[in-house]
Amino acid sequence: MRFPTTALVLSTLAAGQALAASISHQGKMHNHAERHVDLMKAHHERRELDHRDTSLISAADTSNILKLGVNAIGLNAVSKGDAPWVGSDGQFTNTFHNTAGEDLVLVIWGPSGSWINAIRPQITVSIPENSSKTISFPTGWSGAWAPIYGSSKLVNGQISDTWGEATFQPPYSVVDVSREVNMNGKSMSIVGPQCVTDMNTCVFTCKGGASTCLDQYQLVNCETGSQAGANKGTWGGADSGGCGGMGSGAQLNTYLG
Ligand SMILES: *[C@@H]1O[C@H](CO)[C@@H](O)[C@H](O)[C@H]1NC(C)=O
Repeated sequence: MRFPTTALVLSTLAAGQALAASISHQGKMHNHAERHVDLMKAHHERRELDHRDTSLISAADTSNILKLGVNAIGLNAVSKGDAPWVGSDGQFTNTFHNTAGEDLVLVIWGPSGSWINAIRPQITVSIPENSSKTISFPTGWSGAWAPIYGSSKLVNGQISDTWGEATFQPPYSVVDVSREVNMNGKSMSIVGPQCVTDMNTCVFTCKGGASTCLDQYQLVNCETGSQAGANKGTWGGADSGGCGGMGSGAQLNTYLG
């Protein structure tokens, strides 16, 4: 989200993984303990193809997200591996609740980047109105998620809405809501074992009233001690932090809309 011009370059590449992997680690995500994950990514994605499930997204949703410009439906693994999988048996889980009043597609991408026009997402699952889906995350995973609604758009290859970002790496696991891509995005609230991050709390926002931002962001209402698990620091001169307090594993709940 910080490098839209790069996204434009990427959109011209067939896959773009190598370039994206080197770029996506710039900026705030450096603070997250993700460094090692991308090295074995290509190898892992080959393996994941063996246990994906293509029934997790409806035909209509598939057609809609491809029309929107998403590269492909997600890997959609259904058993433990090196990418998030649909299931509740992981050390780190996140149950996504659709409270938006309309159907949505949950999209999750990993450390190789958020430009889902060029890079195949790890998860794209249909979550109908009033239902939920539990996703497990491998230890060491770093990435983000966002919903695609009926009116959603990709801007520079990224979902132009509110994002959730996470790194699940004990003891430095952290999760946050980010509004940097679109300050006018729909509501997201992530409830962890100790700490809540939502549209106003432990949230990355744009400075100076901008509606979208690359590096002019700030972490607000997340001072260390402001709630259990909250932490705020700086990395490379920029705000970093979010909701920690996840110990060696955690069951999160994310409310969309
Ligand atoms: C979802 O829940 C709301 C509130 O209970 C209800 O009004 C609505 O009809 C439900 N939608 C569907 C599709 O079941």
